[in-house]
Amino acid sequence: MLAPGQVALVTGASRGIGASIARRLAAAGVKVGVNYHSNSDAAAQVVADITAAGGAAASLGGDVSSEAAAEGVVKQVLEQWGRIDILVNNAGITRDRLLLRMSPDDWDQVLAVDLRGAFLCTKFVMPHLIRQRRGRVINISSVVGLSGNPGQANYAAAKAGLVGFTKAVAREVASRNVTVNALAPGFIASGGMVDALPEETRRQILGRIPMGRFGTSEEVAEAVVFLCSEAAGYITGQVLTIDGGLIA
Ligand SMILES: NC(=O)c1ccc[n+]([C@@H]2O[C@H](COP(=O)([O-])OP(=O)(O)OC[C@H]3O[C@@H](n4cnc5c(N)ncnc54)[C@H](OP(=O)(O)O)[C@@H]3O)[C@@H](O)[C@H]2O)c1
Repeated sequence: MLAPGQVALVTGASRGIGASIARRLAAAGVKVGVNYHSNSDAAAQVVADITAAGGAAASLGGDVSSEAAAEGVVKQVLEQWGRIDILVNNAGITRDRLLLRMSPDDWDQVLAVDLRGAFLCTKFVMPHLIRQRRGRVINISSVVGLSGNPGQANYAAAKAGLVGFTKAVAREVASRNVTVNALAPGFIASGGMVDALPEETRRQILGRIPMGRFGTSEEVAEAVVFLCSEAAGYITGQVLTIDGGLIA
């Protein structure tokens, strides 16, 4: 059960896992800020779906790696609903290359969105959570941040960085009744990163997953709702892996 009247900001919620998280939180009665970077039509569709189902949502454009944009997105949530209770740092990109071919730009872009973006949004949301003496921050990391993956040194570093960030901030704000946790999804078929892989690579990956299937974005969203619930009030600084047993 989620406490009534809550407001969430989900970054990168125009599609994929973020869109499922936004829809699921809205179905649980949470008002949701649906952040996107460039895909305004897709974000508008997520908002329309939520509204049609009787929920409340607003689409909020902004590049989370920009300090001004991240601050602006948080400000818009507060202007719209007067409070914020939940932040889901989901926005993420990949620029996959083997190390020797990885450019400093490939490195910087992934770190900027996947790690700096989470830092900025958390920094701008946290004062409100602390003041309320209640709040939830959920960082979407990845199993790649725990186990590594060839061709993803930048992404693995960013996602591992999110784990350290989660644990440090969890310790900082625990006494204010704010929990900070990370999810580490494995391979999630959500119309995004996994679906873009070549068929042969997908087949090889499936062979390594004990459950023999990819996960769904809805399965990730259920874990977010659990971590936002009253039942999860004593869980903080943790990383929950959702990977069908991949790195068990
Ligand atoms: N799919 C998987 O198997 C998997 C596994 C482990 C972890 N993850 C993590 O889960 C998250 C979502 O993955 P996904 O597969 O659903 O990704 P996706 O389908 O590629 O969607 C990425 C989302 O992030 C947004 N975004 C990108 N850059 C942004 C920026 N600078 N500022 C704000 N929003 C930005 C995109 O907005 P636009 O539509 O406007 O571009 C989009 O809404 C990511 O953090 C990813 O690393 C995914």
